[in-house]
Parts: sequence; C-alpha cells; structure tokens
Amino acid sequence: MKTALITGASSGIGKELAIIHAKNGGNLVIVARREKSLLNLKYSLQDEYGVDVEVIVQDLQVDNAAQLVFDQIASNNITIDYLINNAGFGDNQLFKQSDPSRNRMMMQLNMNALTELTHLFVSYWIENKICGKIMNVASTAAFQAVPYFTLYAATKAFVLSFSEGLSLELKNDNITVTALCPGPTKTEFAANSNMDQDLADHKMLPTAEDVARFGYKKMIRGQSVAVHGILNKAGTTSGKLFPRKISAYVAGQIMKKAGKH
Ligand SMILES: NC(=O)c1ccc[n+]([C@@H]2O[C@H](COP(=O)([O-])OP(=O)(O)OC[C@H]3O[C@@H](n4cnc5c(N)ncnc54)[C@H](OP(=O)(O)O)[C@@H]3O)[C@@H](O)[C@H]2O)c1
Repeated sequence: MKTALITGASSGIGKELAIIHAKNGGNLVIVARREKSLLNLKYSLQDEYGVDVEVIVQDLQVDNAAQLVFDQIASNNITIDYLINNAGFGDNQLFKQSDPSRNRMMMQLNMNALTELTHLFVSYWIENKICGKIMNVASTAAFQAVPYFTLYAATKAFVLSFSEGLSLELKNDNITVTALCPGPTKTEFAANSNMDQDLADHKMLPTAEDVARFGYKKMIRGQSVAVHGILNKAGTTSGKLFPRKISAYVAGQIMKKAGKH
C-alpha cells in the first residue's frame, strides 16, 4: 500500500488526487491551511475506503515549512512513496500593480516549498532505497510568457523546467518526476488568483476530477511532462511554431480578458 503526501488537498485538483489515491487503497498525508476541509476529507476517505489519512495543517508560505512537514511525517513513522506538490496560486494583474508581499508568498509557495519538499524526500528515498514518485503541478502557463499573469507563469516555468531536469537526473535512482500541466480548470484557483469567476466557471472547462484522474495516471506511468487536454496540448506547442513574442502576446490577450480589469 503506497502512501501519498499531497499539498493543497483541501480543494480542487489536490482534493481530487487524494480521493483517487484513496480509491486505489493508498494511505495519505494531506497538507493545507484549512483544517476543517482537511478533516472533512480525512473522515470521508477513512469511512469510504478504509485508508489511513494524516492531516497536517501548515501554511507552506512560511520559511522552513517543508522541513516542518517532513519532520512531522518522520515523527509519526510514516513513509511517503508519492510526493504530490500541488498547492499554488496566481495573481491576474499587471506586475507593476501587484503587491510585493503577495508576490513573495507566491514564489515561496509555488517554487520554494515545492523545491524544498522535493529535496527532502529525494534525499530520504535515495538513502533508504525507496522507489518514489513525484508529481509537481505546473500549468500550461509554463510554456510561454503570459502578460497579466507574468509572475505566476514564471513560477510555473520554473516548476516545469525543474521537474524535467530532475526526472532525467533521477533516472537511475528509481524515482520518477511528472510535471502535470493543466489548462484552465474549474476550481477555487480563479477566486484565489484575481480572475473573473464567470470565465473560470465556463461549462467547457474540465473539472478538477478530470485533471486529477489524468495526472494520477501519468504519475503512475512516470511520464515526465503531462499536458491535460487536446486544445491545451496544441496551445503548448505554439511556442515551437511561432516566435516566442507572438505566443506570449496571444497568451497575454487571453489573460487580460480572464482578469477583473
Ligand atoms: N485551476 C486552474 O485553472 C489551474 C490551471 C493550471 C494550473 N493550476 C495549478 O493547480 C494547482 C492546484 O490548484 P487548484 O486549481 O486546485 O486551485 P485551488 O482549488 O485554489 O487549490 C489550491 C490548494 O492550495 C492550497 N494552498 C494555497 N495556499 C497555500 C499555502 N500557503 N499553504 C498550504 N496550502 C496552500 C489551498 O488550501 P488552503 O487554502 O486550505 O491552504 C488549496 O488546497 C496549483 O498549483 C495551480 O497553480 C490550476
């Protein structure tokens, strides 16, 4: 029975990943800030699937958060097999108008916490000869610059590049790394990222469950980059077909419409 650590499991894609893993009989450690949502999920998964679920209430934006999570898991004698770095948020506005402290929090969560957790678990797995799996949730925004979402897209470009590089570095260590790249998905992300909720609720968009099911399958297979959806796949190749400037301009026009400008 494999145990998965999922950050950002209190809603959206992370919550659906937790449900899928529990359905498959796996135990869980779920991390986020909203204790009530995590506890509700824990009780429902324990009742329905008979799995063990440990809740860690932790703000991953604070310094040393990754170490605190790792230490709590170690002190409970839990061995993690799958690390899913999913927690993240964006900020849909012009960078010059953004709040520096919110920018710092975004970089801390989307990049630093992810990197530090990955380092802690990779080191532990190699030392203990554990065949681990990592899923880092990036975005289709990782494939080109995205004006009006500039910093967020840059954090996700980091996640994509970091995951692809690490996946090759760890080839001989029996550890796989998957960068899951969703496009727009119906979750709380829009509300948390300064976006127009009507667009984010559009009926054509995939659900968090669709994206999680796709990502989980790719993580199990050990695929290094997994872009969800045919249109998103086509969009992410546009950078190869058109000059970078054009791809970025088009992405920026889309994000301009998606914001509350
Ligand atoms: N939805 C989309 O359109 C979309 C598209 C591409 C990529 N993504 C990526 O998908 C991932 C999941 O997002 P989602 O769409 O499922 O959005 P969501 O519903 O807003 O979920 C975000 C999760 O991250 C957690 N989180 C946020 N800040 C945190 C913090 N400081 N410390 C710990 N946990 C924190 C939230 O829990 P608490 O609030 O309880 O802490 C929540 O569980 C993110 O990395 C996002 O960038 C989303």
